[in-house]
Formats: sequence, C-alpha cells, structure tokens
Amino acid sequence: MGMLPLWKSGEEVVVDVSRMIRPAVDSMKPYQPILPLDVLSEQLGHPPEMLVKLDANENPYGPPPSVLNALRNLQQELPIYPDPESRRLRAGLASYLGVDISYILAGAGADELIDLICRLFLDPGDRIVNCPPTFGMYPFGASLAGAHVIDVWREADFGLDVNGVEKAVRENGTKLLFITSPNNPDGSVIPPEQLARLLALPVIIVLDEAYLEFSGMQSVSSQVPKTPNLIVLRTFSKWAGIAGLRVGYGIFPLEVIEHLWKIKQPYNLSVAGQAAALAALDDHVVLTERAERICRERERLADALAEIPFLEPYPSRANFILCRVIGRDAAELKRYLAEEHGILIRYFDKPGLTDHVRITVGKPEHTEKLLSALHTLSATAS
Ligand SMILES: Cc1ncc(COP(=O)(O)O)c(C=O)c1O
Repeated sequence: MGMLPLWKSGEEVVVDVSRMIRPAVDSMKPYQPILPLDVLSEQLGHPPEMLVKLDANENPYGPPPSVLNALRNLQQELPIYPDPESRRLRAGLASYLGVDISYILAGAGADELIDLICRLFLDPGDRIVNCPPTFGMYPFGASLAGAHVIDVWREADFGLDVNGVEKAVRENGTKLLFITSPNNPDGSVIPPEQLARLLALPVIIVLDEAYLEFSGMQSVSSQVPKTPNLIVLRTFSKWAGIAGLRVGYGIFPLEVIEHLWKIKQPYNLSVAGQAAALAALDDHVVLTERAERICRERERLADALAEIPFLEPYPSRANFILCRVIGRDAAELKRYLAEEHGILIRYFDKPGLTDHVRITVGKPEHTEKLLSALHTLSATAS
C-alpha cells in the first residue's frame, strides 16, 4: 500500500505516497459523521419516512414556506457563480444582529468558519484550549493544522472549569480558546460573568452560539466590535431548519476578518444557501416562534425522560437533551431504539460520554414514539 509506480520515459520510478502525507494528517483519527437517512434506512430495514431522526440536532419543522419559495425562484441564478461576498445575506444579517456588515462573514456552515479560523491562526506546534465534552470540530480543525489541543475538561455538571482554562491559557501561550454556549452535547450555557473573566485572558476566544436561538440568552455578537479578542459563530442549520444547505456566519473583529477574506474560497456559499438564508431571516418571526415551540417540547420531554428509571436527563438550553444511562449499556440503548423502533439518537464512544445518549427534541409525535419505546423497554426489563 502507498507505493505508486510512475513511468517516465520508459523507466519506472516508485513513489512512497504514504511518506508524503503530512504527519499531522497521518496521525489524525477520521471524524465520525452521522450516516445519511437512506443509508440508515437500508441498514435498519425501516422505510425512511418511518424513521424518527433525533440524532443530529436538526430542526424537525424544516424551513418555512418562504424559504422553499425562494429556492423555487432560483432558475435564473443557478448557472451563475454565487456572490463571493454574500452581500445581500450579510446586509440582512447586519440589520438582524444590529452589527455593521463589515464584521460579518458567511460560510458553508459554522464548520467552514471553524476550519478557516484554524487555518488563519494555527501553525504546527501552536496551541488551542478545548473544553470537552464538546463539539468535535474544534480539535479536528486544530489537529489538521498540526496544532496541540490542550483539553480542560468540564465539571461534572458540564460547566466550564474557568480556573483550569485560565491556567491552561496562561501557561501554554495558547492562541485560540474554543467555547460553546449552549454547549453540545449537554446544552449548558456560559454565564456572562464567566465569559467576562475569559475575555480578560490573552487569547482569542471563539464563542460558538450554534444553539443560541433555543437558549433564551442574548447573543454576544454585538460585543464583537468593541472586543478585539472575541469571535462569535452562528448558524442557520438548527434554528432555520436548513442544515442541508450549509449556511453559517461569524462576527469577527476587523483585524481578523480582513485576513479571512483573503483565505476563504471565493464561492464558499452556494446560490441556494444564500437565497434560503436570506428568506429565513425575512421570516425570523416564524422561525423564532418555532424555536419557542421546540423549547416547550424540550421541557415536556425532559420531564418525561426523568420518569424513565434508567435515564437521568441534564438541564438543557438547546434543542437536545443529554441523558446519563444508568444500569444499562448506552450503546445498546441506541441500537435497540434504532433497530426495534426506527428511532435514531446519538451515542458517543468518547471519554466522559460512554454512559450517555443525546436526544434531539422533535415534534410532539416524535416524543410520544420515543417515550412509548422507552416505556416498553422499561417494562420488559423489570
Ligand atoms: C456547537 C456546534 N457548532 C457548530 C455546528 C455546525 O454547524 P453548521 O451546520 O453550521 O456547520 C454544530 C453542529 O452540530 C454544533 O453542534
């Protein structure tokens, strides 16, 4: 494997491709993404329309009709490359956020912006601080750049270990600190006084607000123009129900955004993504109302999960609930729900989470199906 024969003027040259792969990439573990619905449907033997998808924090209501209309009206624009500066979308975001357009950059999901941030700041050997358990793309982006990831583990209730973060940043000459509010996978938020303490550190803080719309908190986006070390990331994937179109955005200090413009791919956001996100912004009242509906369902689901003898749900301010699984195997619970009932939830085979599952909040009928399956299991076991 890895030895490729090349032919040049009749003479064979052997190239050892594996030795040419960057060491940082060679040593990386692949990211474990969620399988697509059709693949899962085939694997599980349940038709796709019967599956209840509660594994990736997507919005069960999908996009509002205005977004679908905007997509239907794109015939003229499809043959043309998209606006590389996403001007109309950024102008919409500027008035939605109350932040000048010059601070805003849109990306193919918040994921692309995490990747761009890592590529902008990190050289091999640089350091980031990460606060696991949390979203996996921060160490992914840092490792790809060959940077060291310093993990400061969260407390038992998933709150940040602020003293630990302060120490790690100061001792290690860290460039970036990634924090998430609400955090994935547990849904806890970072209190304003903790954020203020962290902002006093000599580090660039990337605050990921992917689930902000479900939290009842104010975004800190408007603080960016007067805070030189703060970057805020947001997304249309969760709140606006268009994860499939890949639209996220960031609010960056001017000194940072100036360089991001140089390194981003020119046509990073598709015509469809830009149009759909703009239509979603125009319909933000409807979307906010849907987010509130999801939050109400979250509270109902949390109360019901607390009644299941083998589950201990954590309080969440996002569109998912993390549960500790007591007295049973969490991976087996995920398998049982998927195979027997077509209900997909998330299990993480990761340190600190092996006895946990994360359940996305769905529609009321999804909650009913899940609870019925859990009660059946509970009755069979006892
Ligand atoms: C905390 C967090 N940030 C970012 C993302 C990715 O967002 P996007 O779909 O915009 O790439 C996710 C997706 O699950 C997430 O959980």
